[in-house]
Amino acid sequence: MGRFAIDFKFLTDLSIIIGTGVSCYYLIARMSDIESPKSQTKESVEKQNENWQKLCRVNPALTDLTNQLNTYERQVLSNVITPFDINVGFEDIGGLDDTVEELVESVIYPLTSPEIFENNNLLTAPRGVLLYGPPGCGKTMIAKALAKESGANFINLRMSSIMDKWYGESNKIVDAIFSLANKIQPCIIFIDEIDSFLRERASTDHEVTASLKAEFMTLWDGLVSNGRVMVLGATNRIADIDSAFIRRLPKRFQVQLPNRESRTKICNIILKDVELDSGFDIEHLLDRTQGYSGSDLKELARNAALSAAREYFKQKRQLGSQYLSKKLRPLKMSDFFPDEAYAFSQQNLD
Ligand SMILES: Nc1ncnc2c1ncn2[C@@H]1O[C@H](COP(=O)(O)OP(=O)(O)OP(=O)(O)O)[C@@H](O)[C@H]1O
Ligand SMILES: [Mg+2]
Repeated sequence: MGRFAIDFKFLTDLSIIIGTGVSCYYLIARMSDIESPKSQTKESVEKQNENWQKLCRVNPALTDLTNQLNTYERQVLSNVITPFDINVGFEDIGGLDDTVEELVESVIYPLTSPEIFENNNLLTAPRGVLLYGPPGCGKTMIAKALAKESGANFINLRMSSIMDKWYGESNKIVDAIFSLANKIQPCIIFIDEIDSFLRERASTDHEVTASLKAEFMTLWDGLVSNGRVMVLGATNRIADIDSAFIRRLPKRFQVQLPNRESRTKICNIILKDVELDSGFDIEHLLDRTQGYSGSDLKELARNAALSAAREYFKQKRQLGSQYLSKKLRPLKMSDFFPDEAYAFSQQNLD
């Protein structure tokens, strides 16, 4: 019985010790969690390392900074795209020649030839450039092409996701965006949907949002990299952006819906590798696509290709190994406008 009593006391003591140990562990883990960004997945850490290695390959001097990056800068690294990873160039953009030409002057030259802009009061590089206009007209494309053509690194940010993901810590992430951009310059900080972040400040703004905007402006004003770090914003709703921010985006480019001439250029790009039927009538396609954006045109062509692909698979299924064709048939007008094909067959029936 006495032996039992001793064991019982020992077990009680042991459970208290284990309990205290476990609580301490969670307390410490929780405290370190407050200090560091939210737990990261293995994939995101791998992506960060991979991106950093790519940056170091291009600029070996960065290798010395490897151990100096803080946790937040590492987080931002997941959003970095090197120019070699971008597969959009100016030749892929149709119908925006004037805009592209002006952008070359105001974005590419300062990024690639900072010596011309240094200590020159007349030629100052813009710290901010804004692309605005209706959806699907090529704003994101232009931003990527600018990074590719200028050889600048590209930090691709969607502020809404940053604010959701880093709520409460977003100031530290904003600091990290600018400090990392400085380290890996030349660098374009691209903020898509900039209106969702820099919208008109209101008294109803949450404290965190308000302080984040203030922090962003301070860091933006503090950019001293002579144009080698640039904020490039894109929006569909320019009217929603705070006027204080608009002032910091002195170079604004409207990316409009394409007119007929631009649509021709876009179609030529989209259809350049596609075989077209002899009855394909580009003029008719242009007539029918008034008011279409570049993205609408792409979707139209994609659907046309899908219609030919559907036929290919159907025949392959029916004929099996006897079906020898290895490519799609040329695209016909009816692939682009199936409703017209229907009207045509109805006419024939009548
Ligand atoms: N001018 C253009 N030339 C060639 N392709 C275009 C053009 N505009 C749009 N596209 C096609 O449409 C797609 C979407 O374009 P993009 O993402 O750049 O539009 P956006 O203006 O950024 O739209 P959003 O405002 O919705 O973000 C592109 O990937 C491209 O395939
Ligand atoms: Mg876009």
